[in-house]
Formats: sequence, C-alpha cells, structure tokens
Amino acid sequence: MSYVASRLSAVKPSASMAASLAAKALRAKGVDVIDLGLGEPDFPTPRHIIDAAHQAALRGETLYTAAGGTPELRQAVADKFRRENGLDYSADEILVANGAKQIIFNALMATLNEGDEAVLPAPYFVSYPEMVKLLGGVPVTPVCGADSGFRLTPEALEAAITPRTKWLFLNMPGNPSGAVYGMDDLKALGAVLARHPQVLILSDEIYEHILFDGRAFVSFGQACPELRDRTLIVNGVAKAYAMTGWRVGYAAGPAPLVKAMNTVQSQSCTSVAAPMQAAALAALTGPQDCVDEFRAAFQRRRDLVVAGVAAIPGLTLPPPEGAFYAYIGCAGLLGKRTPDGAILTNDTDVVAYLLNAGHVSSVPGAAYGVSPFFRISTATADAVLVEALSRIGNAVAALTEA
Ligand SMILES: Cc1ncc(COP(=O)(O)O)c(C=O)c1O
Repeated sequence: MSYVASRLSAVKPSASMAASLAAKALRAKGVDVIDLGLGEPDFPTPRHIIDAAHQAALRGETLYTAAGGTPELRQAVADKFRRENGLDYSADEILVANGAKQIIFNALMATLNEGDEAVLPAPYFVSYPEMVKLLGGVPVTPVCGADSGFRLTPEALEAAITPRTKWLFLNMPGNPSGAVYGMDDLKALGAVLARHPQVLILSDEIYEHILFDGRAFVSFGQACPELRDRTLIVNGVAKAYAMTGWRVGYAAGPAPLVKAMNTVQSQSCTSVAAPMQAAALAALTGPQDCVDEFRAAFQRRRDLVVAGVAAIPGLTLPPPEGAFYAYIGCAGLLGKRTPDGAILTNDTDVVAYLLNAGHVSSVPGAAYGVSPFFRISTATADAVLVEALSRIGNAVAALTEA
C-alpha cells in the first residue's frame, strides 16, 4: 500500500536540506563537519524586532488575522515598495504569507492548470521546479551558464516560451549564483515578454538588500512598468533582517491574482501568526541600520571566499554580485583520482569527496540544474569560512591525475 499521492512521486526533497542532513549524520559519528549546505544568515534577529513580537503577544495580538495580512503590515509593505523600489501598490495588491516560499506556492496553486509550463532559468532555487511539478505544471529550465553571467538572455527566453508557458521566474540576486540583472537586462527581457501576453512574471527579490560592490538594486517592476498587470514581485523579511525562522514573506501584484492567492491561503493556513506579523512590521518600519551591517559582513565574506577559491587550482568563482552563496566551478577536478582510488566524474562526486575527505558540506550543482559546480553558503563566521577553504584546498591537493 502507498500512502503517497501520484502528484508527489516526481517531487524531490530539498537538496540543501539533504546536504545538511548528511553533515549532521557525519557529525553524529563524532566528525567535526563544517556545514556550508543551508543558506541562512547567522546573525541573531535584531532585538527591536523580537521585542515587537513579544509586546504584540502581551497586548493580545494572538488571534487569527485577515488571511492576507494585517492592514498595518500590508500598508508597511506597500510603503516599502514605494520607498525602496519606486512602485505604487495599494493594500489589496499586497499579500503576506508564511515566507516567500508560501507566496510562490500560493501563486502557482492559484494559476497553474495541468501541463502549464514555468520557465525557470537554471541555476534556480531548488524549490521552484519541485513546486511547479507538485502543482501539475512542467518546469522548463534553460541553462544560463557562467558565460552569460548566469543570467537569462532574451534569446534563451524567446526559445523557452511556448503557447503553454504560464510563468517566467526571475530571481535576483540569484540563489545559487548571486547574479544580478541591471535595468537594460530587464528591459530586454521585457521586450520579449511583451510579445507573449500569456506569460506571467514572478520576480523573486528576496536577496534585494544583499548586493555587493555598491550596486543599486533594480526591481523588475521598475524596469518593466508596462508589464505591471502580469508581474508578481516576491520578497520577505527572512534574508534582509536575519528572520528565516519567523516565516514572513510578502508580494505585490495585480489585484485579481493577489485575490486568488489569498483564497488559497485562507483555505490552507488562514494567515501568518499574528506576533510574527508584528515582528515583520517592526522590521519594515523600524531602524534599517541592521540591513547595512549584514550587507557589509556578507560583502567581506564574499571577498574572503573569492580570494580563497582563487588560490585552489581546479576551482573557479567569478565574484558573486549578491546573495550569500558561492557557486564554485569544479570542471578542473573531474577525471581526478581520490586517495581512495575513486575517480571524480561529476559534481555530486566532488561534493561527496569534500564531505568525506575535507569534512565540508556543500550542495552539488546538479540540484540547481547547471553542472559542474557546487554551492557553499557564505552566511557563516569569517573564521569558519577560512577553515572551510583550507580544508577544501587540502582535499583538492590530495587528488591525483587518473
Ligand atoms: C531564491 C529564494 N526564494 C525564496 C526563499 C525562501 O524564502 P522564505 O524563507 O521567505 O520562505 C529562498 C530561501 O532560501 C530563496 O533562496
């Protein structure tokens, strides 16, 4: 007997969670493993945000709220889009959910019919294709390699669109590559999309504030205002305010789409927990210095990792432009022999070798749709990153020609 519905059969568990579990299993055997698999800021949530949740609960904000978010939080989200992105949205065009992930799930649940396609430029966030499959859709994953800066080109977009295309997903800065799109890049994609009026655009901007080398962020909504009625901008407090466990994401989009997503949410989870919404409100309306402090730390670590990888023969890493990952090319290691006599044939082998020989956990590029690469999270203390790079360097140095 199977307990599992057929729609779940093609869906894989999260690869970064799997990497973290493998690290934990080795740790349970007493091995000192450095886990660079999961990506979440290592800073504590700022105190004023924690206090706001506490005070809200003490005030009695412990009941159900409106499904799409409290009026105060939706207003704060609308104000954020106006202040930071120059975008005008009214409260009925805003939805608050349990993380950006639930926003994306609601959007797909509300719109996908069986067999509809979603264009997911690879490398992509691991959850995108799995959510699309879970909801009856078909992921279309054009490979955007290092040669295009891991960015989707207008030509690749045009080639990926069919009459069944329902969504294009963009993610900037990107997980896992850190790639960022500039105004001209987005306008060029917008020109292609203008020719295909059936395509909705989901712009996942959750890493908006983690941007390096003084770059200014350009929202898809800013670059392509003419596509406003088919654009959903996804964001949240998780990455900018070190709040991954609080589970608050939000989106802005056309009212009929937001209304449909709201229906999905009200029938599945009702709302985000009231004290968590109060915390998100404090994050968006309170002092913003923490955002700059976090960004400065991530920039320092990005620099440290880029320099460290450059010193390891066989590995490549163009400097990530944002987010807190390094998507490291490992083509130079393929075909080499490990001290145990095994030959490294792909990035999954490389990741297993780095875990078993170097005691550093990472995620293979195969999980993100572009090989041979592996992803490490740089959201960890500088000293840990230095140690991890030294271990990776030693493991690589122990490889021999086959
Ligand atoms: C691109 C991207 N979108 C969304 C999420 C999930 O965000 P949240 O924690 O708000 O659900 C992540 C988390 O890793 C991510 O990398």
